[in-house]
Amino acid sequence: NLAGLDLRAEIDRLRKERNAVILAHYYQRPEIQDLADYIGDSLELSRKAAATDAEVIAFCGVRFMAETAKILAPEKTVILPDMDAGCSLEDSCPPDRFKAFREAHPDHIALTYINCSTEVKALSDVIVTSSSAETILSKIPPEQKIIFGPDRHLGGYLNRKFGRDMLLWPGVCIVHEAFSETELLKLKAQHPDAPIAAHPECPPHIVDHADYVGSTSGILAYAKETPAQTLIVATEPHIIHQMQLAMPNKTFIGAPGADGNCNCNICPYMALNTLEKLYLALRDLTPRVEIEENLRLAAKKSLDAMLDLAS
Ligand code: 13P
Ligand code: SF4
Repeated sequence: NLAGLDLRAEIDRLRKERNAVILAHYYQRPEIQDLADYIGDSLELSRKAAATDAEVIAFCGVRFMAETAKILAPEKTVILPDMDAGCSLEDSCPPDRFKAFREAHPDHIALTYINCSTEVKALSDVIVTSSSAETILSKIPPEQKIIFGPDRHLGGYLNRKFGRDMLLWPGVCIVHEAFSETELLKLKAQHPDAPIAAHPECPPHIVDHADYVGSTSGILAYAKETPAQTLIVATEPHIIHQMQLAMPNKTFIGAPGADGNCNCNICPYMALNTLEKLYLALRDLTPRVEIEENLRLAAKKSLDAMLDLAS
């Protein structure tokens, strides 16, 4: 029974006792963001995981992110507050079907979004995140044939921007898929001077209205740079917490779903992590991410390729 426990104080005590670092993605609940040691996008959190001196990584994000941390830092204990924190993109791309897709296109390389299973990473040549995809793709010769999975919207955005014709796996993020163009245009009509910042996981009918398209960190940087006082944010709305902390005088409005508000765009997987579960994970050092060594080494190759090419 956790009633009566000061969870924040307990988490602080355990983080010191366990020599743990708490990494959190921008889509985590505000109370988790507020006590994290580092907050970041997928690429930044991977780099932090690879570089940390801590013995324990408490990963407040989704499972593929915690697995990435374990792949890059196998000697660390990696805990995830809720092991059910998956991702619709990962679910869309079962490894056996991805393997068949690869085998059907032997003259293509597999450029793969980090939002996938460790097995799919092991079947890929180069991993990308939304913040590294453009840099990495621009380093791949135009004549090189590419299959891109699992996010067809990110892949389609890259194809349009770079004039490529990568073959796309048909996966989508259920969160970014849920924004409504009609409601977005209504909101824009009410705030004509507010630019729109969108994550590239959004479908083209949202991205095409955006003044800025980029990763969560990119969107946060844009929010700081833009002289506009009001910004419409077309990504998971928990990122607005960091924007409001950094820029209390600006107004941030989450882009709406079909019901006219942004609550339907909360990532249900990210939301599984709570302060209670983080406390229990630090106390018991479980749920723990474990990856079979040959699989880890195979997946590490494509992640290392990303870390090399992204810089
Ligand atoms: P970022 O790398 O932009 O943080 O994106 C992660 C993610 O899951 C977006 O849905
Ligand atoms: Fe996956 Fe979408 Fe949630 Fe990101 S927001 S973790 S892509 S389901």
